[in-house]
Amino acid sequence: MLKPSDMRGKTALVTGAAAGLGRATALSLARAGADISLLDINGEALQSVAAEVRALGVAAQVQVVDLAATDNCGPAVAAAVAEFGRLDALCNVAAVFFPRHATEMTDREWETTMAVNLTAPFKLIRAAIPHLLETHGAVVNVTSCAAFMGQAYLAAYSSTKAGLTHMTRSLAMEYMHRTIRINAVAPGGMMTALAAGLADLQDADSSLLSRIVPLRGLVEIEDVAAMVAFLATDAARGYHGACINLDNGITAG
Ligand SMILES: NC(=O)c1ccc[n+]([C@@H]2O[C@H](COP(=O)([O-])OP(=O)(O)OC[C@H]3O[C@@H](n4cnc5c(N)ncnc54)[C@H](O)[C@@H]3O)[C@@H](O)[C@H]2O)c1
Repeated sequence: MLKPSDMRGKTALVTGAAAGLGRATALSLARAGADISLLDINGEALQSVAAEVRALGVAAQVQVVDLAATDNCGPAVAAAVAEFGRLDALCNVAAVFFPRHATEMTDREWETTMAVNLTAPFKLIRAAIPHLLETHGAVVNVTSCAAFMGQAYLAAYSSTKAGLTHMTRSLAMEYMHRTIRINAVAPGGMMTALAAGLADLQDADSSLLSRIVPLRGLVEIEDVAAMVAFLATDAARGYHGACINLDNGITAG
């Protein structure tokens, strides 16, 4: 398995840290020695992840923040830096997922998807850049296999993931000559609460849905978390502007 470099004395801000991949990423970086600023809208679950992080012998900050209100992003980065005095990694993991027939998607669902999945990562990165330049740090954005293939019933979600993938490359170009690395990971289906949202979709054409069923099975959350944590540390020094497809072959054809 990929190993992050030693993160002792360093700090990571992880969004979506209360559950699923965000939790696993936070724990992976904590095992590498990083103090973690944990951000999520779900305060109760976040407290229990904070206890898991502290049990690994590092510090945890709990930030209960709604990323749909994107003005919260700048202050969240500032709070992490105020707590730990530095920022070495920003992992944008949080996302929302509303599988819908296009005609049934509400304005609010569309706008929340854009805000949480695309605008918030940009505003967090924008606020983090000055700190990451100081520490020679890294950004890791979690996108999706949905960024690389049209997916029925996911017009909003897949648009944000394609946008975040391209934002990663564009920012990597902008910071090509500076001391910061910016990368992305595009997972395939993982067994999390987010993926379970597909079950709510009524009257879907199963022949269209079958195109996103992974022929080799789901991807392990721990494997994706290990990749995100690796990219967040100096061990991944050769990676800049990359989007790693970790999807059991779902985007192969
Ligand atoms: N699960 C999959 O099959 C799959 C596939 C490809 C990509 N991804 C991506 O992986 C990442 C992690 O997803 P997951 O599967 O762990 O899902 P999850 O639902 O388990 O975790 C998402 C987390 O984001 C948080 N969140 C949602 N809205 C928020 C908001 N407004 N403000 C702050 N936090 C908010 C949730 O509370 C939750 O803890 C996402 O970016 C997702 O798009 C997941």
